[in-house]
Amino acid sequence: MAHSRPRVLQYGKMPLPQLDAELAQAYDVHILSQESDPDRFLAEQGAQFKYLVTSAAMGLPARVVDALPELQFVSSFGVGFDSLDKDALLRRGVRVGYTPGVLDDCVADMAMALLLDAARGLSASDRFVRRGDWSRQRFGIQTRVSGKRLGIFGMGRIGSTVARRAAGFDMEVAYHNRRPIEGSPHLYLASLLELASWSDFLVITAAGGDHTRHLVSREVLDALGAQGFLVNVARGSVVDEAALVEALRSGRIAGAGLDVFEDEPHPHPDLLTLDNAVLAPHIASGTHETRRAMADLVLKNLQQCIATGHPAVEVPW
Ligand code: DGY
Repeated sequence: MAHSRPRVLQYGKMPLPQLDAELAQAYDVHILSQESDPDRFLAEQGAQFKYLVTSAAMGLPARVVDALPELQFVSSFGVGFDSLDKDALLRRGVRVGYTPGVLDDCVADMAMALLLDAARGLSASDRFVRRGDWSRQRFGIQTRVSGKRLGIFGMGRIGSTVARRAAGFDMEVAYHNRRPIEGSPHLYLASLLELASWSDFLVITAAGGDHTRHLVSREVLDALGAQGFLVNVARGSVVDEAALVEALRSGRIAGAGLDVFEDEPHPHPDLLTLDNAVLAPHIASGTHETRRAMADLVLKNLQQCIATGHPAVEVPW
């Protein structure tokens, strides 16, 4: 028997190393790694794969989809699907499973951590103490969080989880989406510009993709203003990073907490020099518990699709 276990093409390593091992145990997996010659492999063996596993971090380019003529199903590790080539997948009728819901708490926790750090100068104060500056000078006075206004751009699962945390800080919450949410207890503002003007803290939880690219523009940052803070746990593409660097450098906004960047893993080099920016390496979902839950959903989507033709949780293009 040539292949008793289904063949699965894995597009790069998974964000939870155990999942690489679990996939290899359950399936006949080939990892299309950066080191090998992927184009040659695809040309020679692409027709053997009906199933593919990838991640939001690795994405899935049209070039790879087009090289897999039998592809039926993709199981992606991540809630974001902007890095998967929608047109190529839809054109071919490939079904795509993903992992929403299980990471809302950890991403919302990270949004609050970045917000608190940016406002209270936690990372900067850590550097201050370690440098030995404490014995020579005073650390600067910081910004209060409790009772302030929190604007959420993208009031979906993660945005509303952030809003629940904000209640614990007695913050007033408003949001902007394309449309208001029926029954929402929060103030809806019809434009991002209005939301930024209203907010002390503007948190981005909107999905990435062409429709949100650079919506956080110079104009929006100016509306946030010199006392305002930006937090981004969504996608770097939503923010015009060059405009953000300028706003941070010139003090046109007070600070930023960023888990995501336009060109990962290469934040704008000037961000690295700015003390009013807190930077994290896209790790909002990176806890043992959440990555495990995401891995389980990747496996479940794959198993279910092989068995029934339908993933447990399908991307809502
Ligand atoms: C996601 O799940 O989309 C996270 O941003 C990780 O890429």
